[in-house]
Amino acid sequence: MLNRRTFALGSTSLAALGLSGCGGGGCNSNGCGEGMMGSEPLAPPNVPGGAALTLAAPIELGTGTHGEISAAPGSYDLGGGSRSGALLFNQQWPGPTLRVAPGATFDVTLRNGIAEATNVHWHGLVAPPSMDGHPMDVVAAAAEKRHTFVVDNRAGTYWYHPHPDRRTARQAYLGLAGFLLVDDGRDAARGLPTGQRDLALLLADKRIGQGVLDYSPGMLDWATGWLGNAVLVNGKVSPVATVEPAVLRLRLLNGSNARILNPALSDGRMFWLIGTDGGLLDAPVAVRSVLLAPGERVEVLLDLTRDGGTSVGFVSAPFSGAGSSMMGGGSGAPAQGAGFDLMHFNVSAPLAGNAGLIPTTFAPIVRHDPNLAAQRTRVFELTGMHGMGGMNSAWHHINGLLYDGARIDFIVPLAQLERWQFVNRSDEPHPMHVHGTQFQVLSRSGATLPTDPGWKDTVLVRSQETVQVGLRFGIAGTFVLHCHNLEHEDNGMMLNFTVV
Ligand code: C2O
Ligand code: CU
Ligand code: CU
Repeated sequence: MLNRRTFALGSTSLAALGLSGCGGGGCNSNGCGEGMMGSEPLAPPNVPGGAALTLAAPIELGTGTHGEISAAPGSYDLGGGSRSGALLFNQQWPGPTLRVAPGATFDVTLRNGIAEATNVHWHGLVAPPSMDGHPMDVVAAAAEKRHTFVVDNRAGTYWYHPHPDRRTARQAYLGLAGFLLVDDGRDAARGLPTGQRDLALLLADKRIGQGVLDYSPGMLDWATGWLGNAVLVNGKVSPVATVEPAVLRLRLLNGSNARILNPALSDGRMFWLIGTDGGLLDAPVAVRSVLLAPGERVEVLLDLTRDGGTSVGFVSAPFSGAGSSMMGGGSGAPAQGAGFDLMHFNVSAPLAGNAGLIPTTFAPIVRHDPNLAAQRTRVFELTGMHGMGGMNSAWHHINGLLYDGARIDFIVPLAQLERWQFVNRSDEPHPMHVHGTQFQVLSRSGATLPTDPGWKDTVLVRSQETVQVGLRFGIAGTFVLHCHNLEHEDNGMMLNFTVV
């Protein structure tokens, strides 16, 4: 017997969303749908690179301003005129960039123009539960919902995407995602690049066949997550941005369903990590690459001041050790850890004006007390492949449980500092995400990641690794905790908790 969740997902179709999927030229040579192991390698995407990088149109929010985002089917140019069916916010990919100041009122209406229920989650923001896009709190087709709350987050790079139970992976994959920037107006004073030198880049792994998006996960794809053959940057295959020979700020979001990325410059040179999910670090940290799991964001500075007149490549460098995925899912996609070209910066001729500098420090991060011995520790065991044999298994559990929207899995006292321990006993990496707060990494059994010292809402827990985070909630109600591998999430790797 097929697992309830897997079966339900396997039987939904793109047609139900008003899109052509398999049969529309979107399938690879292995055919549609429920591909099993042992498939031939997936062909590279048949889309020419080199299109100009596109940047999302901003919507400025704040007192008295009301934004609207409309989710609807559309047709999207992946680059070089290759159009694919997609699901888009305001017919853009990424969706519009929502900008709001800390302490301002966020006020955005979601209109649902797709043929099934959806909703929107403001990933990383501390929103009241009724505004948070809980998986069971959905907006019916043709309906709308207004979201208003006061922004209580640090300045930083957040994002938004749909979150309906068991439908998040497909909807987000087909293009429903955008940036949400909390901007306190002090970046110029901090010495950070702004305006044209501040680029928000949505990196998202897609499987592209014959120039169109393919989403047809089979059994093995539910295990590994849906891995693609190209990493789009703001919706384009290998785009090119023309930039000044200056210090650039990149806000990088890994909006992939399952692929972990490792952004780096193609010549291997150093760059500076300045921020994580919840805003700026204490000070820039020099890195040559930075692992970025699905759901995570980093902000980095690139020094291109001496690159005038040249082209600088930006890639996801190959890596190993995150765990598993010897195979790239069910259809021969490059394995987890494979390298990808992301984009190029065409750097214009040397500049007369100010090229910018790398700042030396930002405001110190107030650390949680590292000695939390008196506080409650909650353990979350992440397991995989129950009942090896595949067909009748749900792949991944948290404490042996699969998500049930009607069940509250645990209660958390308001305002108390707690230690949450993620113990990964599976062969897969799991980026674990908590709604309703930002947390700090207290310890990690494996090698430290450069993002560990920052504020986080999503943390990569590699195979067989244990990561402890310290957190507290300032808002009551029911939230979710889940793996941000979206196939794992939709397949039940999620729990409900209520803060009281
Ligand atoms: Cu970005 Cu609960 O998700
Ligand atoms: Cu979230
Ligand atoms: Cu997972």
